[in-house]
Amino acid sequence: MKCLVVYTSRSGNTEKLARAIAAALGPECVLAAAADAPPPENFDFIALGFGVYGGWPDGDLRSYMKRCRRKNVGLFMTLGAWPDSEHAFLCMGRAEGLLENCTTRVKFICQGGYTPEHLARMKSRPADSPHAWDAGREARVAEAMKHPDETDLRIAADRFRAAAEKLRNAPPRPAKPPKRAQVLAVFGSTVPGAEASYRAIEDAMRERHPELPLFRACTSYAVRSKCAAAAPSLSGVLMRLVREGYAAANLVVGFLSAGEEYHKVRSEAAAFGPQLELCVTRPPLSDRAGLRRFLGAVLAGLPERAPDECVLFMGHGHAGGRSDFQYMAAASELAGLDPALHLACVEGEPSFDPVLPELRGKRVRLVPFMLVAGDHALNDMAGDGPESWKSRLEAAGYETECVLHGLGENPAVARYFAELV
Ligand SMILES: Cc1cc2nc3c(=O)[nH]c(=O)nc-3n(C[C@H](O)[C@H](O)[C@H](O)COP(=O)(O)O)c2cc1C
Repeated sequence: MKCLVVYTSRSGNTEKLARAIAAALGPECVLAAAADAPPPENFDFIALGFGVYGGWPDGDLRSYMKRCRRKNVGLFMTLGAWPDSEHAFLCMGRAEGLLENCTTRVKFICQGGYTPEHLARMKSRPADSPHAWDAGREARVAEAMKHPDETDLRIAADRFRAAAEKLRNAPPRPAKPPKRAQVLAVFGSTVPGAEASYRAIEDAMRERHPELPLFRACTSYAVRSKCAAAAPSLSGVLMRLVREGYAAANLVVGFLSAGEEYHKVRSEAAAFGPQLELCVTRPPLSDRAGLRRFLGAVLAGLPERAPDECVLFMGHGHAGGRSDFQYMAAASELAGLDPALHLACVEGEPSFDPVLPELRGKRVRLVPFMLVAGDHALNDMAGDGPESWKSRLEAAGYETECVLHGLGENPAVARYFAELV
């Protein structure tokens, strides 16, 4: 068991106790002044000691005590007042109140003498002061000046040794696994058909982790404000998890590339770091191994291609070019698997125009390279307007066939996401 003794001591009274307690806790025990103390996380039992100043521990110890969370602690205190006085009781109570979710295993209080300067100030107080020097005060201070004495040091050492011993011998409590949930974070869509993709991924997540309750978050503010049925924001979902006592969650991110939206998700997740342990998945296009497995899943759901047919996937991309290299890597990986497979993006690179002369055969099958068949699939890809990819391909003499299903509807892709955690 790792023990730590941390203290503040202006005139050395509490330090004497600290040394006696540290010696009693054994040679491995670390003794440190609060200003230089190591982090509390690394210790099983922490003894915290202070002299009382204006009714409180000194600032350095107060700050350290606030860092102690869910710890086994002991408190020791020296003060000028009688150790069994109401004042002593209040000072100890105030100090204990600074600790968050800690268990106090032992307490020790004794008097501690004043410095000569402070003593002189006390003696010079006017007769009408509530703290005026009188016979009662003189007797109390005369006693305080004898402490901490050898008996105080021995009693404190014995009590802390016994408390540590008891803790050491306590049967280990079976560690309770943290309450865990799973969350699917998606951009969201106002197109009703998009729901099929999200549901398929959720079903795969439920199948993979039937023991974890599942929540959905919609990251797009625009979608949430337009669509009353949209899932809550990611922060809203994470806040709910904290309120409901969850300590951990698998966060499956339903984006294909690590772009702007993904980084937003990561920073929102990081903000919940102190309360929720989050395992955040990476988008498939963000690393080569992920990309290969993902493309395998995409192609598993693609019906066989006729010899005179090629496939053109429509990716989303990013107008500012932030995901260009990820989509370009995906396009070249696809072409390496089959030269009749092409990928272009609505925004950024690779774009549609340079792909057009690469197409071979009579027919082009247009497939969304997006989780959902939303607005881009319906309009930019398969729309009847002159700028849609379908219209432009037909104008160039190709026959077209448009697949209006998001990749999420492909069970292999849904499983790919679910199996990331
Ligand atoms: C400026 C000053 C303020 C003090 N305030 C209190 C107090 O509020 N209550 C009390 O009982 N003792 C008070 N004392 C007495 C100290 O708590 C006592 O001397 C203690 O043992 C000092 O511990 P340290 O030498 O480890 O810092 C005060 C002493 C000084 C010098």
